[in-house]
Amino acid sequence: MNANTAAVAVDFSCANPHALATILEASQTQSIIAARDIFDISGTKLWARDLPVSQALQRKLLDRQLREPLESCLKAENGVTAHTLVEAVEALLKQPTPLTALLHAHADAILREAAKLPVHPVAQLLLTATRSSRPVAYQHAIQAMALNGALMLAQGGKPAELRTAMLCGLLHDLGEMYIGPEFGEADAERTLDVLSYQQLVVHPHVGQLLISQLTDYPAEVARAIAEHHERMDGSGYPHCLRGEQLSMQGRQLAVTESTLATLAESAAQLSRASVALRVVPGEYDLRCVGLITQVVRQQPTAPAQRTAEELQERLAKLAEVMHDASAATTALRGAAMSAALKEALTLTEHLLARLHGGLMTSGLWSVDPVAAPDAAEVEAVEGELRFRLRRIERAVRLRAGLLTDEDSQRLDGLCRQLTISG
Ligand SMILES: [Fe+2]
Ligand SMILES: [Fe+2]
Repeated sequence: MNANTAAVAVDFSCANPHALATILEASQTQSIIAARDIFDISGTKLWARDLPVSQALQRKLLDRQLREPLESCLKAENGVTAHTLVEAVEALLKQPTPLTALLHAHADAILREAAKLPVHPVAQLLLTATRSSRPVAYQHAIQAMALNGALMLAQGGKPAELRTAMLCGLLHDLGEMYIGPEFGEADAERTLDVLSYQQLVVHPHVGQLLISQLTDYPAEVARAIAEHHERMDGSGYPHCLRGEQLSMQGRQLAVTESTLATLAESAAQLSRASVALRVVPGEYDLRCVGLITQVVRQQPTAPAQRTAEELQERLAKLAEVMHDASAATTALRGAAMSAALKEALTLTEHLLARLHGGLMTSGLWSVDPVAAPDAAEVEAVEGELRFRLRRIERAVRLRAGLLTDEDSQRLDGLCRQLTISG
């Protein structure tokens, strides 16, 4: 366990306050009851079987060690089932989204498999609570289940692999419920808040523990969930795993998660997601990236929103920002500073160089928007670069942690250089 995963202790012998709060909120619209008597570690009965959960239960559970994990003791009546999953996928297929073409090509097989998906009681409880209290997160789970299934079918996966892929998609972010609502993925991406980010990076680890300790799903589901924010070049989280260290399902789930994140972040088209997957070669599994790119190629290209000249100007500005930020990082190194700031500067240099190098290798940097037939691709590259620079700022602040006033002023100055207006 590294520093990041240590930031959130997960021990299912005590009720997690965030998960419990979500379950209680859901219990206002959904019947959630004790499936059996709930005892603390010393054998005192805290709650009787069949009683609905309530604030009183929350008070009794406070910091109390339990004989069995709370998740295994509760039951959601009329909760999420394979049948409701099918309905949710049907509703998704009816909406026109950037994923429509990809999903429709495999709709029948996905619906058939969804109808047979095993919904373990703990998964049912947590998914039902998510559906009531965090509907956006539930929609994300449904989309991930369908997309991850479609990607598996597109590469000729066997029935067992399809089932695992769909389970991975459905369950991949359950760990988020354990880190508090203020640390949701979308929020942390926007706010660059270091504490939020430190909390956020543990959700794959929490998800893995949930699946492996509280359910009987196959080990490869837990593993893929642990890996869903890792990158093949070692730049992911929480463990900076590389290439062969990542399972096949984990690599594919990472592509699914990134594709959905890009589409949600900027209300973007699939072409933007395809650029995001390619801008730094080596991050994602090429086979999966190819599947997304192939669908994009078959679609009519959307016109760019900006003129070619505007795009050229914006790309030139980005090149200047990257160049100046690299120069400023090197210059700062001369000053006397803490080891923490030094480390953060080394990371800044590394990430900027990697982004620049990636752009060169992918050939996306040298596309001339005036001459290019596809200005929309150039626009997607430009949008993705801005997003990547914001991410570099966040990663650097995270690495630096708490600094002295003087050092944090230095870092703020550098981060301002990474910020582009407009
Ligand atoms: Fe995630
Ligand atoms: Fe996700």
